[in-house]
Formats: sequence, C-alpha cells, structure tokens
Amino acid sequence: MATNEEILRAAELVRQGRLVAFPTETVYGLGANALDAAAVERIYAAKGRPAGSPLIVHAASLEQARELVAEWPAEADALARRFWPGPLTLVLPKRACIPDRVTAGLPTVGLRVPSHPVALELIRLAGVPIAAPSANPFTRLSPTTAEHVRRGLGAVADAVLDGGAAAVGIESTVLSLLPKPRLLRPGMIGAREIEEIIGPLQPAALASDAHPSPGMHPVHYSPATPLYLVRNGITAGGRVAAVWHRTPPSPGVARSVRLPDDPAEYAAALYGTLHELDAEGFDAILVEAPPEDPAWAAIRDRLERASS
Ligand code: TXA
Ligand code: MG
Repeated sequence: MATNEEILRAAELVRQGRLVAFPTETVYGLGANALDAAAVERIYAAKGRPAGSPLIVHAASLEQARELVAEWPAEADALARRFWPGPLTLVLPKRACIPDRVTAGLPTVGLRVPSHPVALELIRLAGVPIAAPSANPFTRLSPTTAEHVRRGLGAVADAVLDGGAAAVGIESTVLSLLPKPRLLRPGMIGAREIEEIIGPLQPAALASDAHPSPGMHPVHYSPATPLYLVRNGITAGGRVAAVWHRTPPSPGVARSVRLPDDPAEYAAALYGTLHELDAEGFDAILVEAPPEDPAWAAIRDRLERASS
C-alpha cells in the first residue's frame, strides 16, 4: 500500500505535469493534471489512445467538481450527494479551465469523485483535479492491481501508487445529464438506483443510437487471448480456460475458474481473473454468459466488448 510519502511525491509529480498511475475503487487510472493540456497530451501518447476519446476528470470533493462545470443541474446535485465519492461519472457542460484536450473537443466533461482513500489524498495534495483514463494500453483490459499497471504501462508512468485490489473492479457508470439524463456506459451503480433519485432515464437503445459515448470502441477491455461467451454450460476440451459462476464446465477444459454468483463479487474478481488467464497463454477463454438480470448489466456489457 502506498505510504504518505509516496503519495506526496506523486502529487508533486502531478503538479510538474507528469503521469501518475493511482488506485480507484473501480480500476486503476493513469492520471495527469487536468488543467494542463501538455500533461494530458502525455496520457494519450502513453496509452496509444485515439485523440477522439474524452477523459474522466477526478475531483477530491463535490465542491471541487462543481468549479469545473458551467452548469450544475438539480439532478447532478442529488446524484453527487447520493453516490459520491463513488463509481458514478457525471457528464456536464465544461468550464473554459478544462482544456479541450481533456474532453476530446467536446463542450462537456465527465466528472467523478472516487472513493479510494489513496486517490482522494493524491488529488487533495496535488491541489488540482486529475484527468485519468484506465491505466491500460489502448484496447487492453483495465488494471485492478498495481501489478497489472506495472505490466502494461510500467515503462511510461512516472509513478505507480499501490492501493491493493480495486473493490468494485469494473469502470464507473457514465451518465450524461443534459439535455436529458441518459446512460452512456453501464456500471455497478445501476440505472434503477439512478432512477430512484432523478426519475426515468432516456431508454438505453435510443440513447446509444442517438448519442454514442465517444471512446466506446467495440474492441475494448479485451484480453489478448480470444474470449467467447458461452450459454448453456461450457463443453470444450483442449487448451482452454473456463470461467463460470453457475454451471460447471465439462471436465475436458485445461483450467476451470469459478467466480462468485453475486454481481458485485463477480465484478470485483473478473478483470483479475482475465489478466491471470491471459498471461497463461490458453488458446481461448470461455466465459459462462452472465444472467439477463439488470444487476448484471455492466458485467454483460464488459464481457460482450471483450469477446471475439
Ligand atoms: O471507473 C472509471 O471510470 C475509470 C477510473 C480510472 O475512474 N476510468 C475510466 O476511464 O474508465 P476511460 O477513459 O477508460 O473511460 C472513460 C469513459 C469513456 O467511455 C468516455 O467516452 C466517457 O467516459 N466520457 C468521458 N468524458 C465524456 C464526455 N465529455 N462525454 C461523453 N462521454 C465521456
Ligand atoms: Mg478504459
């Protein structure tokens, strides 16, 4: 776990325009001073990320986040008070202090206050908001441990803060608020929980047809090993790994990994399992398709994107 001294040194690096990988409760982020366009530019270069993908800006408090937006609708206030610090990103019209590079030229900015204490302390000590995508090379799996970050981006991060395994395990829910609330990326804070606070969201199908979230590439979050979703039980032999939570695979698989049959626990374990299996060089990773239940929506989304 990162020491106070390491966090202080990393905060100094952020102020100097350098790149710091840090833990959040969702996944690890590769951060830079969100108010410094040149520093943010380094994030894109380090990840090999296309210029059209906007970054999420991380603040240490609701008050700091509010300073960065031109409008703060009542819905944003209600959601921030309910879910921050936590895995919900709100997309709102940005103020001029946020460089266009951060938002890929969009007039809006994605904002969240993460709940990991190391992230909060880093942002607080840096004294500036921190722009950060997930700390993985473009199109690869998001990291949920400092070790995953070191393996993927160790050579380009100026510091990597260790905060243990990410508790949520998949990326934040992304919600656009204006003109009407609509979900851009499902996450472990579900549509129903959001609707309990602010009322109905725009239907997902309609929302994604009309306004796809920039940067939601179809090939995203993938292990290098081909991954397939399997319904009705995994029956395969040979050098394949099976990941299941309800139906055990046939005995012919080279490796069988059972994940918890609970969406929160499953999400927390998923990327770590895929990173591990990916490193072992199987011919394929077969994953039992997750249930259709809304509680599993974010997990289905990530697995569908990861599958070949
Ligand atoms: O949990 C997370 O969100 C992690 C941690 C590090 O906070 N970050 C993360 O960042 O997943 P990234 O860059 O991998 O994904 C950012 C997502 C993309 O889908 C992007 O399109 C969306 O947020 N996004 C960011 N700003 C946006 C904006 N202004 N309008 C629409 N979508 C935006
Ligand atoms: Mg990402």
